[in-house]
Amino acid sequence: MSNHFKIAILISGRGSNMNSIIEAVKKGEINASLDVVISNNPEAKGLETAKEHGIDTKAFDLNSYTSRAEFDLAIIKFLKPRNIDLVVLAGYMLLVGADFVSAYKSNMINIHPSLLPSFIGRRPHQQALDYGVKLAGCTVHFVTEGLDDGPIIMQAAVPLLEDDNEASLAARVLKEENRILPECVNLIVEGKVKFKRSIRHEKSIN
Ligand code: GRF
Repeated sequence: MSNHFKIAILISGRGSNMNSIIEAVKKGEINASLDVVISNNPEAKGLETAKEHGIDTKAFDLNSYTSRAEFDLAIIKFLKPRNIDLVVLAGYMLLVGADFVSAYKSNMINIHPSLLPSFIGRRPHQQALDYGVKLAGCTVHFVTEGLDDGPIIMQAAVPLLEDDNEASLAARVLKEENRILPECVNLIVEGKVKFKRSIRHEKSIN
């Protein structure tokens, strides 16, 4: 029997963060059903993983659409009849457009592999190494129009080690991503976390 709370996960590649949610649902740690996994990359390994778990999958190829807005609209139209309660961007490499954000408002979260607001955008681990910070980490946040900019739900920090390179730091951070993302999903499923614009966002609105 499918649980009432329905989750859609968007991925672009390996899907380890998606898998951490799948495992948590299977273990009964998240009382929700994984309705569909969507990827902008038809070759994403995570799509295979989802299929192995009997989860619906759908790939949307950006090259088949005339614009990002059209691409996003196709995904929105696909999701609408599925009555999704939460959209999780899990290693999803594209910026979701304004229409997508407003379609899900406070019911869309993202995981970014840095301690936001530091190191937004691409290759945050290299940014951290280049800057010479002593702590790196990851952030789960609600998605707003800005890039990696929404209200923060949870963060986890890891130390940078002397001999770290981008790959070794990424691997250490990924373990924490895989840990906190299902925790955040569960907090939302259980209604323990709600979207609340931070003072910063209020200021930006007024
Ligand atoms: C993760 O570090 C994620 O935060 C980033 O891409 C990496 C791969 O994620 N966006 P996954 O293994 O595909 O979930």
